Amino acid sequence: MIICGVVGATGLVGETMIRVLQDRSFPSVSFHPFASDRSEGKIVRYRNSDYPVEIIRPEAISKGMILFGATSANIAKNWVPMCIAAGALVIDNSSAYRMDPDVLLVVPEVNGHLITGEERIIANPNCSTIQLAAALAPLQQLGRIKWVSVSTYQAVSGAGTPALEELKRQQDGTLPANSADRIHENIITSIGPPDTGGYCSEEVKLMNETCKIMGMNFPIFAATARVPVRTGHTEAVVVKFDDPVQSDEAAGILEESPGVAVSESGSSPLDVENTDIVVVDRIRNNPGDPSVLQFWVLTDNLRKGAALNAVQIAEEYLRRKQY
Ligand SMILES: NC(=O)c1ccc[n+]([C@@H]2O[C@H](COP(=O)([O-])OP(=O)(O)OC[C@H]3O[C@@H](n4cnc5c(N)ncnc54)[C@H](OP(=O)(O)O)[C@@H]3O)[C@@H](O)[C@H]2O)c1
Repeated sequence: MIICGVVGATGLVGETMIRVLQDRSFPSVSFHPFASDRSEGKIVRYRNSDYPVEIIRPEAISKGMILFGATSANIAKNWVPMCIAAGALVIDNSSAYRMDPDVLLVVPEVNGHLITGEERIIANPNCSTIQLAAALAPLQQLGRIKWVSVSTYQAVSGAGTPALEELKRQQDGTLPANSADRIHENIITSIGPPDTGGYCSEEVKLMNETCKIMGMNFPIFAATARVPVRTGHTEAVVVKFDDPVQSDEAAGILEESPGVAVSESGSSPLDVENTDIVVVDRIRNNPGDPSVLQFWVLTDNLRKGAALNAVQIAEEYLRRKQY
């Protein structure tokens, strides 16, 4: 008998989580939506029933409950320890626990085999990381990866509800056009604050998390940007191998990889919105270096980039746990 809950049920990831849980007939018998006191009592619909949003408190948590976290990292640090202590499993979408050496960071198609069913917390990677790892991991069949360069074109929904609302106000002219972080008709070339080396936090996440998931330590040269697209992250990827590789062999490997689709049509974010696939498009051999492949990777950042990946983690956990 599984009781599940979504913490941050009123946000973009939380709402998508609820849709994905329904789409995949997640085997729960009871459901709890949690959010802040701003949303307490608001009604959330799940499997044809209405549930009032609750504030997360110890008495609402029971042993064996599965909680999907969809709050910011700071908020997660407040409620996650309390839920773990109460015996729940937490699958957290925030960055709070991703790089903790004692916490698994999982893209099920890449390292889902590491899940034992004994975990109390499993971290869901950053959205831009999930699609990169899903494309890179199978390509290791071609040979050892020497380095990766990735430039991202990330959708506004990746920054949550307030960012989408701000985009809308910039589009309809109710927010001043000279706003410092204007995204409408613009590109923002730094996502999150820079570290001492000048990399912004999104770039650091992409570099560190990809290596952790793949269990590798190759250099990743990341450049992340926010573009005025509603949903769907796009990445331009360059992969350097030790030895020459063939683009058609890479395409064959990726076609056989679960959750990945290969395209040659020049896919756009609109093509992946509301889908569950990671699209790898226009795989090509670099004419100047036969050991270099270039390609595009796209996915819906709210589904495979967040909610779907988290639900797949829970499904893998349940398979191991054998409820
Ligand atoms: N958006 C993406 O594509 C994406 C992808 C991967 C990972 N993530 C990560 O997922 C998390 C959620 O992102 P999002 O885009 O869904 O953000 P969002 O749309 O801003 O939603 C935030 C959610 O957190 C809730 N919340 C705020 N304070 C709370 C509290 N004290 N207790 C419980 N809930 C509280 C909000 O509830 P109220 O409505 O009541 O304020 C809302 O439901 C973030 O950590 C983000 O980095 C996002």
